[in-house]
Amino acid sequence: MAVALIILAAGKGTRMMSDMPKVLHEVAGGSLLVHAMRSGSNLEPERTVVVAGHGADAVGAAALAYDEDAIVVIQDEQLGTAHAVQQAKDALADFSGEVIILYGDTPFIQSETLDAMLAAGATADVVVLGFEAADPSRYGRLIMDGDALERIVEFKDATDEERAIRLCNSGVISAESSVIFDLLDAVSDDNAAGEFYLTDIIGIARAKGLTATVVRCDEAETMGINSRADLAAAEAEFQVRARKDAMANGVSLHAPDTVYFSHDTYIGSDTVVEPNVVFAVGVTVENNATIRAFSHLEGCHVSRGSVVGPYARLRPGTELAENVKVGNFVEIKNAVIEAGAKVNHLSYIGDAHVGERSNIGAGTITCNYDGVSKHRTTIGADVFVGSNTMLVAPVSLGDESMTATGTIVTKNVPEGDMAVSRARQENKPGFARRMLQKFKSNAANAAKET
Ligand code: UD1
Ligand code: MG
Repeated sequence: MAVALIILAAGKGTRMMSDMPKVLHEVAGGSLLVHAMRSGSNLEPERTVVVAGHGADAVGAAALAYDEDAIVVIQDEQLGTAHAVQQAKDALADFSGEVIILYGDTPFIQSETLDAMLAAGATADVVVLGFEAADPSRYGRLIMDGDALERIVEFKDATDEERAIRLCNSGVISAESSVIFDLLDAVSDDNAAGEFYLTDIIGIARAKGLTATVVRCDEAETMGINSRADLAAAEAEFQVRARKDAMANGVSLHAPDTVYFSHDTYIGSDTVVEPNVVFAVGVTVENNATIRAFSHLEGCHVSRGSVVGPYARLRPGTELAENVKVGNFVEIKNAVIEAGAKVNHLSYIGDAHVGERSNIGAGTITCNYDGVSKHRTTIGADVFVGSNTMLVAPVSLGDESMTATGTIVTKNVPEGDMAVSRARQENKPGFARRMLQKFKSNAANAAKET
């Protein structure tokens, strides 16, 4: 069955106290909008329409960055959720199939739940996603007649008796395209808020002899974000789920509560993650790797068998091939480290390629920036880079070459050669002891004079 998504994202989000549109605030490194779009994307929608209003340029750009085929429509004035959905009518004029309406500020709807809604659509004209609220407060209430949904009443318009109902409207609604847009035409703004309520389409459908039903989900899934406190709660909720998922998929977490994932983190089975590790966006880790304590990874790929950290920082563009070792206080950026290579201590490797089995000594720095441009360092296979080597890029070290400790490499080093660029050591017999005696007697004389 063809599916189209409409994502409502025109609201301002006043309670966020922010210059940024609400749906662009992030949970686990991904905007609320992207979370919402992703929850619908598993249905492989034929079309996705994002209704933008406040901050429409930025919201539209974020939608297109996630899905270049998304259609962004503008709701100039926010006259209510029904009015918002109507803005998608032209974009879906030639679409026939099921339409699912999602909110851009509700990030955790599971694709299984949407599947259940589509299945329920086989026997009902309109399907609403509902949940039992621990504290129903201002949610719309679902008025049931047995298994049939009679209507939805908004909190502002509800009687005390209706307010006592705990079954609430999540906001997610699905129906066939022609049905939804027909019903919307009959919605008025004659209510306590003076808004066009999407929720009115249920009562209208029933009056026309159509059927409506409810699919239920957990309250956590329908969590909407309205404030910074909600955002923090959503982050916590996401992390709890991500940790459980990782462990269920065969990843060992020594201290799950201290490991932070992003919305797009992928970690293979039999990988071990020690305490206090942060996976920022864009990280993939293959099987059998070890990410040791206090490491921070972003935009990087770690292949099987590699060991990272403790205290390592992998920045965007880092690719570790199999069985690589990256040790403590090492920063790597935009660099490929080939299989079996080691960067074990206190180094910065940026804009570089390190060949197989090469060893990068402690304190090695790729001097990649000249104050204006970035330059590359290329290190061959089986290279031994001595400790405290400065590699002034652009520069290359041939296979099986070597640098002496403390070398500043400014010229390419041919294959098999050794580079050494330091003053030759000279020992001055007895010099240290004489200097020390002199300093002591100077200090004693100075003390006498005062
Ligand atoms: C809505 C539902 C309520 C439900 C609740 C769940 C209606 C009338 N009420 O209420 O039954 O329990 O969500 O959270 O639908 N939006 C627009 N344009 C508008 C108005 C809203 O794009 O003109 C967007 C908002 O940005 C938001 C979503 O629609 O993403 C919901 O709007 P909001 O104002 O939060 O509705 P609620 O009052 O929470
Ligand atoms: Mg709301």
